[in-house]
Amino acid sequence: MADAPDTDEIHITEDGSLTLKDDVTGELYHNRAGALTEALANFVEPLNLRSLQNETRQLAFLDVCFGLGYNTFVLLNELTKLDLHSDSIKIVAIEKFSKPLLYISRVLNDRRLGELRSSIEEQAKELMSGTFGQWSFSLDGKGGRLAVQFELLQGDLREVVPNLVAHSAGEFDGILHDPFSPRRAPELWTIDLFECYRKLLVPASGKVVTYSSASAVRGGFSKCGMIVRRTPAVGGKSGGTLAMLPRPDGTVSDGLPLLEEEAAKLAGRAGVPYRDATFCKTSAEIMRQREQAQKLQFPTLS
Ligand SMILES: C[S@@+](CC[C@H](N)C(=O)[O-])C[C@H]1O[C@@H](n2cnc3c(N)ncnc32)[C@H](O)[C@@H]1O
Repeated sequence: MADAPDTDEIHITEDGSLTLKDDVTGELYHNRAGALTEALANFVEPLNLRSLQNETRQLAFLDVCFGLGYNTFVLLNELTKLDLHSDSIKIVAIEKFSKPLLYISRVLNDRRLGELRSSIEEQAKELMSGTFGQWSFSLDGKGGRLAVQFELLQGDLREVVPNLVAHSAGEFDGILHDPFSPRRAPELWTIDLFECYRKLLVPASGKVVTYSSASAVRGGFSKCGMIVRRTPAVGGKSGGTLAMLPRPDGTVSDGLPLLEEEAAKLAGRAGVPYRDATFCKTSAEIMRQREQAQKLQFPTLS
């Protein structure tokens, strides 16, 4: 365990849940409307967990940019409310820094997260104190006991995600992508990263969900062969994005269709994605190369 949490860094959002401010980008980790509200509305609900209810195999999720853990904890809490046929959940979470983990205990104090706190406290005590590692614990679900395998990996997602493809291709039902914004950290939103996600998803049913509605992000998903839909807005912001593999019958049931103006932006200059096949370019290089690609592909526009 690292240092004690600095309570001055905590901001209370409008729904009473917690967020932090990032020192480098100056961005809050969450929408002011609420960290918990955002995790539910922007990430967990768009995954349509009910569609997984009849699966008997292990269900698997990848939480990219774990932070304070709201996306993982809200996901687990919602899974316990479903009459799942599966009795096994796997979550792999990636986080670069240890600082946000120090607040896990405070995050889990929220009564809206149900029995999670007591289960984790009893069965995975060290996770409460903010330690990276592998944990197993069980939860009481509506459909019976759920065995949870939780792996919290410390690392840069640009290294961890491409490595995961080698041994976890086709495994994840849902990927929750939650870095800082594409304008501030374009290197975490490239088509090359999304191509890894495409490979990691369960074929024909897996989904990637993110809070961003940026056309460059949607363009990245779309250009790597995924169907792009909109998710509902939270706290006065525009909705986020759901990206899915096409079903063999061509139907789409999740998410909302893009608005006309969103579809037009996606097809135009704004839809040119960020690229970094090396996974190590700087954000300035990635921005510059995107501008060049925009000029080449849309030469008549300034
Ligand atoms: C918007 S916050 C995520 C909020 C989080 N999902 C939650 O529910 O609290 C972004 C997180 O990404 C982490 N991060 C920043 N750069 C990263 C990188 N290259 N790889 C992995 N994590 C990164 C930050 O430390 C921060 O915790």
